[in-house]
Amino acid sequence: MSVPKVIFVLGPPGAGKGTQCQKIVQKYGYVHLSAGDLLREERAKPGSQYGELIESYIRDGKIVPVEITCSLLEKAMMAKSEMNKFLIDGFPRSENNLNGWNDSVDKKVKLLFVLYFDCPLEICTERCLARGAAGSGRSDDNIESLNKRVKTFLSETAPIIQHYKELDMVKTVDATKSEDEVFTEVTEIFDNIEA
Ligand code: C5P
Ligand code: MG
Repeated sequence: MSVPKVIFVLGPPGAGKGTQCQKIVQKYGYVHLSAGDLLREERAKPGSQYGELIESYIRDGKIVPVEITCSLLEKAMMAKSEMNKFLIDGFPRSENNLNGWNDSVDKKVKLLFVLYFDCPLEICTERCLARGAAGSGRSDDNIESLNKRVKTFLSETAPIIQHYKELDMVKTVDATKSEDEVFTEVTEIFDNIEA
């Protein structure tokens, strides 16, 4: 069996990571694993040991301790072990996330690159507020949580993106445009990587 390939997908909340990942899945056959979605699923499980902790972190826009997130990601990868290309969306979001991944998963996979959706924070915040108003049902698509999520992005996630830039591993996409225009840029990247 070949080593699973991984692409990390990062960008501010509302940059369109999830939307673009779904399109990548359809066109290029990757498995999409969203750290945020996995945490929300875990939170929703009746009797989950971590449900309340996860909810309080999500509402406060804080990054859940990596032991929880990484084990959810590993379990999800294992469940799809017949697949060997994974888009890991919204991870690693902090130094704690990065260290946890490097300690437990990194050596078992090949990280291809980091796909970074670059988008001004004001636009991102507006998108999330619109998503909340349209009934996303997310407990963090409100202005109080969003201000905290943006702060966390700047203080914790931006340094991770910088770290991968220094390793020359970041492919940046302009995420301000329409869904289809952004995806055109994405396809230029994916058409040029060897499968
Ligand atoms: O990526 P998404 O916007 O769905 O993430 C929602 C929330 O989930 C984050 O604001 C954070 O509280 C939590 N999260 C996390 N660690 C990650 C990804 C998401 O704690 N790696
Ligand atoms: Mg998402």
